[in-house]
Parts: sequence; structure tokens; C-alpha cells
Amino acid sequence: MRFKESSFILLILFIYIDAANILALFPVKLKSHYSILDTITTELASRGHNITIISSFPKSKKPNITVIDVSECITLSDATFSIDKFLKIKNLFSIIYVLLNYTNYFNEVFSCEPMQRLLNSSSTFDLHMIHIYNSNVMLALKKKFQAPHIYISVGSLMPWSTEIMGSPDNPSYISYPNTDYPLNSLKSTFFQRLYNMLGYITAKLLFHYYLFTDGQRAAKKYFNVNYSQIQEYAKNTSLMLTFSHFSINTARPLLPNVIEISGLQIKNASSLPKEIEKFINESEHGVIYFSMGSLLKSETMSEAKRKAFLHVFSKVPQRVLWKWNNDTLPGKTSNIFVSKWFPQRDVLSHPNIKLFISHGGALGLSEAIYEGVPILGIPIFMDQILNLKIIESQGAAEILEYTDINEKTVLSKIELILKNNTYLENMKKMSMIYKDRPMSAMNTAIYWIEYVIRHKGAPHLCSAAVDLPLYQYLLLDVIAFCTFILITLLIMFYYCFKILIKFARTKSKLKRLDLKKRK
Ligand SMILES: *[C@@H]1O[C@H](CO)[C@@H](O)[C@H](O)[C@H]1NC(C)=O
Repeated sequence: MRFKESSFILLILFIYIDAANILALFPVKLKSHYSILDTITTELASRGHNITIISSFPKSKKPNITVIDVSECITLSDATFSIDKFLKIKNLFSIIYVLLNYTNYFNEVFSCEPMQRLLNSSSTFDLHMIHIYNSNVMLALKKKFQAPHIYISVGSLMPWSTEIMGSPDNPSYISYPNTDYPLNSLKSTFFQRLYNMLGYITAKLLFHYYLFTDGQRAAKKYFNVNYSQIQEYAKNTSLMLTFSHFSINTARPLLPNVIEISGLQIKNASSLPKEIEKFINESEHGVIYFSMGSLLKSETMSEAKRKAFLHVFSKVPQRVLWKWNNDTLPGKTSNIFVSKWFPQRDVLSHPNIKLFISHGGALGLSEAIYEGVPILGIPIFMDQILNLKIIESQGAAEILEYTDINEKTVLSKIELILKNNTYLENMKKMSMIYKDRPMSAMNTAIYWIEYVIRHKGAPHLCSAAVDLPLYQYLLLDVIAFCTFILITLLIMFYYCFKILIKFARTKSKLKRLDLKKRK
């Protein structure tokens, strides 16, 4: 029996998993995002699919993978983003800053020589995988390569992503990702809900009306596709893979084609480089791991703030791993290990790591939660504040505003977490919940990608909500109609009642007159 079952399953796998030609549109030059996307393409290639990746990161040759390298054409990169730049803008509007940087981006991608060669080739594809980064414009390629498409969001679900899918995003209880207020874990006030709603509206309007002006021109120029056509393409999005998980991004309704894949990049820990492992092994009181991610340059931190950290680290008994982009760190003490890069996932898995000082990027947080390491968060922008607030509300993190960094605040926050066991206990609880899943995030992602391929775009997954104009979606026409009927009925009742009363009155008057006459 057992044998029969397994050969039956093998047979199904054999029938169902045909090698597909997949075009992966991942040209955004953000290292942390690309590293996630790369894990998906690598996995798909290892399962026999042929992947063509449009990428800004040159890659060594791998079986089943062809890279169309557009890195030379793209001017915008990680280097554009410094901490100070972000601090100047209020968080709700940090999104505007990011979008403003992308004005010439699509021209650069589409006009790039290797890209042009692909466009002029006779290649065909079964699926497009598109990294959704604040825009729909990449969909213009569907004009050339007609195939179903899926989106991958490296980060929590943005307002435009829910709009594309028709997935519910009621701002009364679903936090705008760039707010600093998790609506469902705290009691919200009127003004917080108002702010939240304004966040949603701003983001959606920007997505459609600001960014599209430039992207639209590029789409028209290179593919002869206009905005309304792109919107039509968007309505047929087969799948949205989103880097979130209900245990950290809060419970909310999701359509069957919106799939959470937070933690996708987390494989079994591998061994650390000898030097780092020795440094961690030999720490008597544990290790603090300090990284502000790859997007924000830690060396753009002001001197006063850098010195505050250095002074605190010289006082604490712990050792420190500090991700620092320059070769030298002036004033470094012997308990600090500096490097431009750490194998973060493996570092966090070492039992001697006691604390993670982080900017709150989704990737780092997912790895810390997976390994149960408490967090001191220094949020800078976008969804970092919200992510950290949610973990803070679970008692597993502390938040320090970047502007409040000084020796006293840093020391007190670090001591608070390290001397108080509850942070560790709460993080271990979060970790258990986060890891308790029917299928790993990677297997979930691959399952759904192959599902879309098997069912030729799986149009049955798409919600009818995407075809409704807003007034119909909100049932405003129905509400208006019902209100009209109700008011008409009320008016009719009112007049009927009035007539009845009048009738009754005249009748009793007549009666009285009648009585008088008889007397
Ligand atoms: C670190 O400690 C572990 C566990 O005790 C050991 O297996 C490993 O070899 C050590 N590594 C180094 C570089 O000392």
C-alpha cells in the first residue's frame, strides 16, 4: 500500500512538473531585495525550470539560468540612500522620496543593450515573475512576451499591491505599512485611523498619477503600451507573493492568490567562517550583533552617534559584531569585530548571540524572529517602524529613535534587554509561532508558482473586485438606492399618517357636532 501511494505521488509529480521557461524581471538595484529574489530563481532552476533573469547583479554561471545583466545602465543604487536623507522626511511621506528617485529608471532598463537584445530575440516564456517595486510599468513587457505574470513583493503588502489583487485593505484595522501605529494590537483613536486612511490614499494616488508619468512614457516609447493597457494587464495578475507573515504583520483577510512567504530565504544554518565563529565562541557574556542592513549606509551615521555606540560597547561585557562599510572604524575597542559583510542568518543562529541591533528591515527581522534573538530596533523609514512596533508590543523588542541616540539611551536600552529575561522568552514564543507552518515558505512559493504554470495563469484565482469601479466596490450605488427607497417609504408613511389623523379628527368633530344637535 505504502509503495503504491508513493509511486502514485511520484507519477503525479512527473505529470505535473514540466520544465517551464520563466522570465524573471528583477532589475531593481537593491542588494537585500535581490538576494531574496535570487533564492527563488535558484530553487526553480534546481527543479528543472529554465530561468532568464533581468538583473542588476552580475552572476556566475549556473545551470538553467541565463542572466541579462543591466547593471551598467542603472544609475540608481544602494548608494543613493543615506540615513540622514531619510531622517529629513516624515515617515508617512518617505515613500515619495523613494519614488522620486525612480523617475528615469524604466528608460534605463528598457533601453539597456542586453535588454534590447532580448526584446529583439524570438524567445518565448510560460511565465513572467516580476519584482513589484512601487510600479506596474514592467507589465509593458507582456505586450512582447505574452504570458501570465506573478508579482513578488519583497516587503509587506503595500496599498497598491492590495489594489492590484483586489484584496481587502480596510484602513480601519489594517495598518498602512509606513505608519508608526499598529492598529490591531493597540486601541486606535479617531486621528490614528484618519492618518492611516490618508496614508493609504496617498500611496495609491502616487502609484497611479505620479510615478506613471515617467514610466508611462517609457512604456509607450519602447512597447507602445499606454497606461490603461497596463492597468488591464495588472487586473490579470495571477499571484502575489508577499514577504509577510500573519504572526508579525498582523492577521488580515487575503485572497487565495496572495501568498505570504516571509522567511523564504532562511535555509538550515551553515557553519560560520572560522574567524567569526571563534570570536563568538570565545565570548564569555555573549555577543551583540549590530547591522543597519545593506540599504542604509552605517558610515553615514554622524560622528557623535558613532562615538555613543563605541563608548557603550567599551563598557558592556559582551562582544560586538558590527557591520560597518569602511575598512577602518576609528576608536574600535578589542571586543568589537568589524566587517563589511556577515553571514547574518548563520550569525543569528549561534546560541551566544544575545541581542540584534537592527534598523528593522523585513529580512533581518524574519531571521531574528526565526532564531529567537531579541531586538533593539533603530527604525529609519518605510515599514521598519511598524514592523518593530509590532514586535515591541509582543515584548520582544525595544525601539530607540535614531535622533535619540546618545551614550545614555543606548546603554540603558541594551541593559534593559540583556538583564531582563522576558525579552528572550517573548522572542522564543514568537519564534515558535513563526515557524509553525504546514509547509516551508520556499516550498509554499514554489508550489504556487508551479500551480500558476500548470493552470495557464490560473484565472480562477483572480477576484472580481479588480473589475469594479470604486463606487461599486464600496456598494455606494446600492446604499444610495436603498436610502432613496427608505426615505420615500418614510415620506409616504408620514403623509398617510397625516391623512389618517386628519380623517379621524374630522370624524370626531362631526360626531361632536352631531351630539350637540341632538341635545
Ligand atoms: C565553536 O564551538 C563549537 C561548539 O562548541 C565547536 O563545534 C566549534 O568547532 C567551535 N569553533 C571554533 C572556530 O572554535
